[in-house]
Amino acid sequence: MSSLAVVILAAGLGKRMVSQTPKVLHPLLGQPMLGHVLDAATQLAPDKLVVVSGHGRAQVEAWVAQWTLANTAKLQAGVVPVCLEQPHQGGTGHAVACGQPGWHGADEVLILYGDTPLLTAATLQDLRKARAGGLLSLLVGELPDPTGYGRVLLDQNGRIAAVVEHKDASDAQRQVRLINAGMMSVDAQFLAQALPQLQPNNAQGELYLTDLLGMAAAQGQPGAAHILPDHREIQGVNHRGELALCGEILRDRVNRSWMLRGVSLDNPTTTLIETGVELGPDVQIAGGVELRGTTRIASGAVIECGCVLTDVIVSENARLLPYTVASQSVIGAAAQVGPFAHLRPGTRLDAKVKVGNFVETKKAHLGEGAKASHLSYLGDAEIGPDCNIGAGTITCNYDGVNKFQTTLGRGVFIGSDTQLVAPVTLGDEAYVGAGTTVTRDVPAGALIVTRAPTTIKEGWVAKKKALREGAKPHH
Ligand code: UD1
Ligand code: MG
Repeated sequence: MSSLAVVILAAGLGKRMVSQTPKVLHPLLGQPMLGHVLDAATQLAPDKLVVVSGHGRAQVEAWVAQWTLANTAKLQAGVVPVCLEQPHQGGTGHAVACGQPGWHGADEVLILYGDTPLLTAATLQDLRKARAGGLLSLLVGELPDPTGYGRVLLDQNGRIAAVVEHKDASDAQRQVRLINAGMMSVDAQFLAQALPQLQPNNAQGELYLTDLLGMAAAQGQPGAAHILPDHREIQGVNHRGELALCGEILRDRVNRSWMLRGVSLDNPTTTLIETGVELGPDVQIAGGVELRGTTRIASGAVIECGCVLTDVIVSENARLLPYTVASQSVIGAAAQVGPFAHLRPGTRLDAKVKVGNFVETKKAHLGEGAKASHLSYLGDAEIGPDCNIGAGTITCNYDGVNKFQTTLGRGVFIGSDTQLVAPVTLGDEAYVGAGTTVTRDVPAGALIVTRAPTTIKEGWVAKKKALREGAKPHH
């Protein structure tokens, strides 16, 4: 079995990004560009995986280590991405040479760019097949405006005679619209022989990987061109405008694929679904919704406009009304949340729970059928099934130093404007009068009410007014 090494070039300076963050770590739909490239590479089951880093190397390497931890299960056993340094910007050929300790010993080297994040594994497989046992194959695009790219010159057999960089090309060569996307599959033995022969005698004084094409042709074994019909896939990122363009292309790709799998998107150009999200059939998503991280939404759920969900599980037929913001929470079947609700990490809503407007929850579990319809803060709370939390109820869970738990049994009724001073426990069907400050545990079935005595003084306003007028100085 022939073995595959994937080498990702990621040492570029990325000057035009004008950023402290290395270019390949800029996020695209929730994960760094480099992550998208690593994901596509992983799908090819490589035997070796190499990242050549230079600019911002420490950051890139730290991120790759983190990616590795999260993706070991997807890689073949024992395959760990290695980062190798390109100490200075010597060109694409120099970068591949710097990665040699990582790819050495493989039969095939597939070279990718860290700043071309939209390539699919299917395209990469086609590129590999196009080599068909030859020395190399190159991914080629046909662009309406090829300015800046290396031009691909074909011989009469449709094989590649040479690649000429834009800066080195003649006027006639600049008319060619076939461009080098940059990715290539190379016979590793040929690569190892050819790299030391590269010369920097070109406009940029660099070692051009693309010179391999001319060398192969000179040996009578010209490389194969795999011409990609959809040039959106080879869109690269040199500045933030192109980053946004890639974001748009990827968002569109992801959204279309969900629509084909039975998800309704009312306004797909405004809906952002990160690549780690999973949706069931007959989920309905309105405009302006953002679904991030590992969010899972089950069949029949409705997510109304402006909801932002990060790592949230939404069960069957739940309904999230507009502008619900939730993270690391679980929403039960047929529950209803929002509008304007804020579910913070550790919130668990069981089936048929209702959480209404301006309710904030954190580490709170609401049992089946419980309701908190208006204006509440429920933090560090265990709330039994069928409880009714009145408007303006606040769990006082923090004394400035520690957090304390509030526990409510089944069917507890909390009147409006109540403070539950934790730690505190209320038994089943306990009843709290409106305006109460609960500072002691309440037994099951008991009423608790704390209220200042009521005072009504008839005619008080008129008397006060007269007093005030009498006190006014006379002129
Ligand atoms: C390169 C190709 C060009 C092609 C274009 C496609 C060469 C000589 N030219 O040109 O034919 O049309 O890509 O976008 O290969 N990199 C390093 N170290 C370096 C130089 C580059 O790691 O010393 C990495 C960059 O981070 C980037 C990739 O290689 O991921 C391409 O580098 P870039 O400088 O963008 O090459 P171009 O001049 O655009
Ligand atoms: Mg470039």
